[in-house]
Amino acid sequence: MSKIGVFLSTFNPIHNGHIFIANELKSKYNLDKILLVPSNIVINKIEELPPIKNRSEICKLACCNCDNIMVYNIQHDSNLSCVFSILQEIKNNFCNDDLYLIVESNLFLSFELLYKHDKIFDMAFILPVAFSKCEYKLMKRKAKQFEHKVAINIFKHVSSEFVRIKYAQGLKCSDYLDNKVEHYILENNIYCGNDRLFRECFNASKNRLSSKRFYHCQMVAKAAKDLARLYNEDEKKAEIAGVLHDIVKEQDDKYLLRIMKDSGVELNEIEQKTPQIWHSIAGAIYCEKYLGIENEQIISSIKYHTTGNRDMTTFEKIIYMADCVSEDRKHEDVEIEREIVKKDLDKALLFQLKKCITLLCEREVLIHPKTFECYNQICQKNFKWRWLPI
Ligand SMILES: [Fe+2]
Ligand SMILES: [Fe+2]
Repeated sequence: MSKIGVFLSTFNPIHNGHIFIANELKSKYNLDKILLVPSNIVINKIEELPPIKNRSEICKLACCNCDNIMVYNIQHDSNLSCVFSILQEIKNNFCNDDLYLIVESNLFLSFELLYKHDKIFDMAFILPVAFSKCEYKLMKRKAKQFEHKVAINIFKHVSSEFVRIKYAQGLKCSDYLDNKVEHYILENNIYCGNDRLFRECFNASKNRLSSKRFYHCQMVAKAAKDLARLYNEDEKKAEIAGVLHDIVKEQDDKYLLRIMKDSGVELNEIEQKTPQIWHSIAGAIYCEKYLGIENEQIISSIKYHTTGNRDMTTFEKIIYMADCVSEDRKHEDVEIEREIVKKDLDKALLFQLKKCITLLCEREVLIHPKTFECYNQICQKNFKWRWLPI
């Protein structure tokens, strides 16, 4: 009788993090071997899956030098989306062995939704993988719902999404993947193609936001694209910045502070007291560090989309204004703003800044110095400046 680990994932694509997890669990639980089982199971998120044969081939290349880690291909494609059927097929082939099912957090956190989930416990011991302390706590709570034994293991976060976004930008990802794997992905254009980067960012935003907020992001992406066309900027990049601009807006303040602190960002006194702007600073860091976006225009436009900034580029102004005039906005004057922004970007920005500064003054709340700098600079640069008589 052998102990067999069944590592079930979309492996989209497999990277060094997956192999690390497989090796660690193999030695921790004295498993004789680990089967990497590429599947089509995506729960509680949207994810574009390349054909199973490509993902399986990539897995083979990734584990070809590993001891007792191998790929197991599910025989019937109709079973690829069902944990129960996958496990049943493997159990039939290894009927005298003990199975240890390794699953990632999103699958385990929705375990009770799976077809015949109780029967899964009868076939295998479950080894869910958590990628943060917070996930670990949630999974512990979830494990208590089941009468069966579950052993949760925590690992440093590994992200296939990060890898896909790097490739979608035409970049390499050699630090995260085996050379042979990278070569296969690039050779076969697995994660490239027209609009692939936007689709990845669209899914990234959708997977993290409520439907209302995500709708807003979609509308900002649309407005940003239209304005970019009007002002001769890159439409695709504008659309991406728009869809990502509020990506961390629904995270709690503690999380946003941690993202900023981990990146060495020190907030000034005013920033410390204005949590409303944290999602823009943290959002820029998040897109760069956690999603792997390398375009500086996209990152800086997200960073300044709430405060504005001195010397804003046309691209940054577009994202700032798209956030104000997107189709979902219903505030007073929005129609006037939509008209102005089509004719003169700076005038529209000035109109918006005036409104924003006035409102904040009326509420007697702090105003970020960058907002004043932005206002002053646009006044000086574009409009007749005169001293007011004392
Ligand atoms: Fe925002
Ligand atoms: Fe927004």
